[in-house]
Amino acid sequence: MTKITKKPVKITETILRDAHQSLIATRMTTEQMLPIVEKMDQIGYHSVECWGGATFDASLRFLKEDPWERLRKFRDGFKKTKLQMLFRGQNILGYRPYADDVVEYFVQKSIANGIDIIRIFDCFNDLRNLKCAVSAAVKEKGHAQVALSYTIGDAYTLDYWKETAKRIEDMGAHSICIKDMAGLLLPYKATELVEALKAGTDLPIQLHTHYTSGVASMTYLKAVEAGVDVIDTAMSPFALGTSQPATEVMVETFKDTPYDTGLDQNKLAEIADYFRPIREEAIQSGLLNTKNLGVNIKTLLYQVPGGMLSNLTSQLKEQHAEDRYYDVLEEVPRVRKDLGEPPLVTPSSQIVGTQAVFNVLMGERYKMVTKETKAVLSGEYGATIKPFNADLQKKVIGDKEPITCRPADLIPPELDRLESEISQWKQQDEDILTYALFPQVAIDFFKYREAQQKKVDLTVADTENKVYPV
Ligand code: CO
Repeated sequence: MTKITKKPVKITETILRDAHQSLIATRMTTEQMLPIVEKMDQIGYHSVECWGGATFDASLRFLKEDPWERLRKFRDGFKKTKLQMLFRGQNILGYRPYADDVVEYFVQKSIANGIDIIRIFDCFNDLRNLKCAVSAAVKEKGHAQVALSYTIGDAYTLDYWKETAKRIEDMGAHSICIKDMAGLLLPYKATELVEALKAGTDLPIQLHTHYTSGVASMTYLKAVEAGVDVIDTAMSPFALGTSQPATEVMVETFKDTPYDTGLDQNKLAEIADYFRPIREEAIQSGLLNTKNLGVNIKTLLYQVPGGMLSNLTSQLKEQHAEDRYYDVLEEVPRVRKDLGEPPLVTPSSQIVGTQAVFNVLMGERYKMVTKETKAVLSGEYGATIKPFNADLQKKVIGDKEPITCRPADLIPPELDRLESEISQWKQQDEDILTYALFPQVAIDFFKYREAQQKKVDLTVADTENKVYPV
């Protein structure tokens, strides 16, 4: 009998970040998460993804929580499990390119507050936009993972992916992730892609996909057989639909095979039991829209991520133009082509989507051009795989010379200015970064925080007066 080499597949659990971002608009609170952390820490996950742009934004904006405080609490609770975050390259967790000093400081503070693995991606796969964050993560002794934003198009050949993987290895990254935000990667394509990447690099390869189009579990199966090292899954109460394949299902699938994860189903079941009532509550309140739980085949037809589809629907609803939904969906690939055929992921998904809505609703294409479309055509977001539509570029930026260097080389340091702007509100160094990312939301939060603290002080003073009457 030939000896079968064991190659256990590792699991990154997404329930504390992507899963609730994808299904319940990132509204799970720290209070809901903390009671289960100790049990999750016993599972033996490769990592737990728990932080990123949307969790940061929603914490501040809707939950009135300090995202840094949440991270510190996770770090206290997870004694042995690696914590992972998602990072938008030069855009950090925001929507515009930042100066290097802000990027470096954000990476430093993320690691100092408890992050082990930083998954860094760029919406154009312009590696120049990842360089600063990758070097900062390496310098801070974190794990720098570079994510390729997966998409489809003639320019995205297996050779392109293989070459890019090689360049990522040369940059000093520690691992590579295939980030399939729209669930476009089909099972047999995954075999080819993983094999191509493995031919280009010795770095570990992780796969991140969404269940949106219904193929994700099969894609994981083929990718694991082709040698992928880590897969991203979500505990079953927040799995499937626009989220990831279910952790327990993947664990069971690979049981007693060379890829056996070794994770204990009984322990996983306890975690699922904990999250199930939270899911039920979210369905009852309407926060979890059951529409997001089904298979959305349109993502395959239009190659648009699930989150972008729901954004388009709400933009059209605001304009009372829901009947133009399919016109907009057909306009999306045309705008994408004009803008150099980038992957559609934050922020390029918002930029392309909003421009497509304008093009359809204004009755004339590019009659109105958003500030962000103009910035893309000016080269402020970096280079795309294909050139921009030259006529459109000329029409939008005129004789202005487009940027061809690494865009951040042109952004002067920003930290000192940001710090002085919020000196009045600053209670911790991290506040500067919070403000850098979401200026208005941050100020509102700082005001709220101060008001809460005053309320507590008053209550304490009150009690003291009652206990010790003068
Ligand atoms: Co995702």
